[in-house]
Amino acid sequence: MNEELEFVMIKPDAVRRGLIGEIISRIERKGLKIKAMKMIKMSNEMAHKLYEEHEGKPFFEDLVSYVTSGPVVVMVVEGPSAVTVMRKMIGDTDGSKAEPGTIRGDFALSKARNLIHATDSPEKVEREMSIFFKKEDLLDTENMHSIY
Ligand code: CMP
Repeated sequence: MNEELEFVMIKPDAVRRGLIGEIISRIERKGLKIKAMKMIKMSNEMAHKLYEEHEGKPFFEDLVSYVTSGPVVVMVVEGPSAVTVMRKMIGDTDGSKAEPGTIRGDFALSKARNLIHATDSPEKVEREMSIFFKKEDLLDTENMHSIY
């Protein structure tokens, strides 16, 4: 099987609306493994790095101020074709067009405030996750010792 890593970010609107648990629950129920996770307040510099491909677009400044406006939850997940699987689970960028059953389809109506980000191609995952995590932050959940 094609085991892959994927970078995921729960955006400030989802944190504010109390949707962290709902989103993490969907990821876990799907069977993806959470390898690393933390809640942070993203800096301006981090936001510019994460969204560098959108620099110059009309929505760029709004996007940066939105993702730096409050805490976000960043994580690395792993599983077979994790990038394709996560992209299907989050749905169309525009919440009003996203299919019911997807995260944005069920909880978002906007393109700009669309709750969640997941890297859109396997080649970009390493770059995006390295903005927030070091290699040693990725944990092997299979081999964790029991606390008992
Ligand atoms: P995301 O998947 O995080 O990737 C880029 C983000 O830019 C996207 O989700 C949206 O939040 C935002 N975005 C993309 N297109 C537009 C747009 N036309 N207007 C406003 N925001 C946008």
